[in-house]
Amino acid sequence: MTAQDATTASWEAAYLRFRTPEQEDRTFRSSLTAAGADSWSKEGTVLELFCGRGGSLRSLCAMGFKHVEGVDISKELLEEYSGPATVYASDCRELPFGDSEKDVVIARDGLHHLPGFPLGLEKTFTEVHRVLKPGGRIAVWEPWPTPYLHLLHAISRIGFLRKCWPRLDAFATMVEIERDLYYEWLAHPAEILNMLRTRFEEEICTIRKGQLVFIGRKKT
Ligand SMILES: C[S@@+](CC[C@H](N)C(=O)[O-])C[C@H]1O[C@@H](n2cnc3c(N)ncnc32)[C@H](O)[C@@H]1O
Repeated sequence: MTAQDATTASWEAAYLRFRTPEQEDRTFRSSLTAAGADSWSKEGTVLELFCGRGGSLRSLCAMGFKHVEGVDISKELLEEYSGPATVYASDCRELPFGDSEKDVVIARDGLHHLPGFPLGLEKTFTEVHRVLKPGGRIAVWEPWPTPYLHLLHAISRIGFLRKCWPRLDAFATMVEIERDLYYEWLAHPAEILNMLRTRFEEEICTIRKGQLVFIGRKKT
């Protein structure tokens, strides 16, 4: 195993213990409902980027979406998924789909993993725009630099609290391992919003508790 493989394995282990599948389902369903997903067509194709072990794919299927797909770069995490959605092992900067095929593209806690800001993000947003049908939706949930998040970072540096609170320890471990990319992402909120608004007509844009929620429609 290379040093990089070992780092990836440690990050994936922390991600798997951060939330139970039940906690994921509660979080994902309530965020989808708040984003208006109950009113999206259940017949359309919903593609989730950075789907990881597929918790959100499960929630989407349980909410009645009939054509659900996921993409993640990690074959190991995709192997954790079982269910009706179709999953693809691929880099989200180069999507294995034709033009104008998808009704909704979701990115949840994955964009901040892209190396080489701003190029990696530009490539991914260009790909999302390409694979969306005219008027198709992008839905993004990502960490955002707010006082709440800064407080969480400060708390997660307290060793004693990490010992008594396994979920905090899992969060802190992920942040430590992905530190460079994560803080690079958090340093560019205005540029990121500008990249989104250039390509997608904003429907919802909220920043709350250290998280950006952006829902937008493909611009022609
Ligand atoms: C924090 S996890 C989020 C997983 C899931 N969306 C969730 O909320 O539980 C980030 C995921 O992004 C994936 N990832 C990182 N870089 C990627 C890339 N360039 N293309 C596709 N997936 C990538 C990782 O393998 C990981 O599963």
